[in-house]
Amino acid sequence: MTYIRSIYIIAVIGLLITSCGGAEINDTVATDSTTDTITYTVVDKHSHSNVADIRTTHLHLDIDVDFENKMLKGSVTHTVENLTGAATMIFDAHSLSIEKVELDNGVETTFEIGEFDELLGNALSVAVQPETESVTIYFSTAPDSKALQWLSPQQTAGKNEPYLFTQGEAVLTRTWMPCQDTPGNRITYSADVTVPSQLMAVMSADNPTEKDPEGKYHFEMKNPIPCYLIALAVGDLEFAALGERTGVYAEPSMVEKSVYEFADVEKMIEVAEGLYGEYKWGRYDIIVLPPSFPFGGMENPKLTFATPTILAGDRSLVSLIAHELAHSWSGNLVTNATWDDFWLNEGFTVYFENRIMEALYGKEHSDMLFSIEYEEMMNENSAILAGDHPDDSKLKLDLIGRDPDDGMTAIAYVKGALFLMTLEAEVGREKFDVFINSYFGDHEFQTLTTEDFVAYLDENLLKPNESDFNVDEWIYGQGIPDNAVVIESNRFDLVTIVSEKIPTMENVASLGIDEDAWTTQEWMHFIRQIPAETTADKLELLDATFEFKNCGNSEIMAEWYIASIKHGYDGINADMESFLINVGRRKFLEPIYTELAKTEDGLELGRAIYEKARPNYHAISFNTVDEILGWES
Ligand code: BES
Ligand code: ZN
Repeated sequence: MTYIRSIYIIAVIGLLITSCGGAEINDTVATDSTTDTITYTVVDKHSHSNVADIRTTHLHLDIDVDFENKMLKGSVTHTVENLTGAATMIFDAHSLSIEKVELDNGVETTFEIGEFDELLGNALSVAVQPETESVTIYFSTAPDSKALQWLSPQQTAGKNEPYLFTQGEAVLTRTWMPCQDTPGNRITYSADVTVPSQLMAVMSADNPTEKDPEGKYHFEMKNPIPCYLIALAVGDLEFAALGERTGVYAEPSMVEKSVYEFADVEKMIEVAEGLYGEYKWGRYDIIVLPPSFPFGGMENPKLTFATPTILAGDRSLVSLIAHELAHSWSGNLVTNATWDDFWLNEGFTVYFENRIMEALYGKEHSDMLFSIEYEEMMNENSAILAGDHPDDSKLKLDLIGRDPDDGMTAIAYVKGALFLMTLEAEVGREKFDVFINSYFGDHEFQTLTTEDFVAYLDENLLKPNESDFNVDEWIYGQGIPDNAVVIESNRFDLVTIVSEKIPTMENVASLGIDEDAWTTQEWMHFIRQIPAETTADKLELLDATFEFKNCGNSEIMAEWYIASIKHGYDGINADMESFLINVGRRKFLEPIYTELAKTEDGLELGRAIYEKARPNYHAISFNTVDEILGWES
């Protein structure tokens, strides 16, 4: 039975490979609870590499970081495993200059650079022999490499030194080194990185805690990871310990604030381990990046990259750290095989994040956190269903020919988590936790497709519990199935009642808000629920009392700007402008600029601000905003 299934899969995938190309991945997956395994092939449409024939097992990076020329220059040596005696090893490269390629002990070999594709870059085909053990590629990056953001001193907290950080997920690692850029292949890595001596370099690896007087740093990552998790940051950094195995890296002026904000990280790890097993990565540190970082957080192993916009001063936005920490299991230990399976990374992580927050701060709090995300997802779901790609509302995506970024919506995150919550409700928490534990245990350091997960779920949870759960509808169907659990927040219901009084209020005191008792999430909900008919003068009253427009909490400020634009209250304009110039986090920029673009005056204002702000943004962010504003650079 197993044998027949595996042949069938190979045959079907084989057809796909000949018709559309893409990286093939050899993967081993347990078919049942015994140790019986099959080998089959998965296609990653977003990589040129031929990992099923010949693959990297380890890479060593040897680079100089040249701030003047905004360039990384050096070599990458791939230790290779030639599975089929292939004569060619194909790498992904995007906007890279390739100087020469050597095999084993320095013997130069020939290479070919394929046609350029804006999204996927070039296939770099290197001639190899069946017995080739290593391939060394000498390369340099382009100043506009999409994975790299080079910051001037002015864009940092300290204003004295430049800064560099990388962002690999999803398909950007190929823009800073030639590699087989598919999540389906796992590698270990090491690196020698030289930086200006006044700066410190850190990676998703074992890290220094002091600057090296010569600016030379050596790194090792000994667990096999997908290459989108290779990451580097260079800046005027200082380290401070949080706990025994946790700490924070930040520019000197940000360290104290960061240490305060992240006080609970050690506890988060303990809770996570209690739920789903040992933390496998040794240390867990966080680097607080400059505000242009395009994401809230990125789960680079051993070293989460985080936006400074979560430093609210009251620890109210730390669920983001729980999220990135949870990726140490879902995503980093068990990885989506292709970007069509992205929900396996993010849906599990949101579910896990929520469990950590519930265990630490109680269900009332975690329900509010989830409700905030649920509201966003429901809006996005409606927009997706009404748009050009309604299939993007499925958990299993089909992103062929598209930027994986396009499919990375709240569906993967929140519908994914809702699916798992609904499964939990079906069998009960106790059984579900046993299942998730064995899911992580059975697949650690492996990659999985959605289909692998479905088979595993069926075998290990649904069949034993005689459940006929509508898995197919959840995974291969559009939108949100009717049996989704409903997460309700009583506290949010009470807030809604207050918001409804705003259009007719005489003064703010009449709302009867107990300011000190409300959490950040309640304020966000309060602002979101302001009724459509509310006039600008009411927002002005609210702002005069609560000073949302410059309250220092980025989540509240962003919600407030969106509401203010909607209701025509322009008292925010100066503060919104400085927020948009300073902060490059796409999650905030996207809805604010979108709201501005809805009217002619708004669009004009948005464009005027964007002109000043755009140079501060990472490519990931400005590509999105360019589209919203119809910007041609
Ligand atoms: N892995 C993601 C960030 C990401 C996704 C980068 C897709 C590139 C492509 C990270 O774990 C994440 O989800 N970050 C969120 C925060 C989270 C709390 C939802 C973010 O940045 O907003
Ligand atoms: Zn995530």
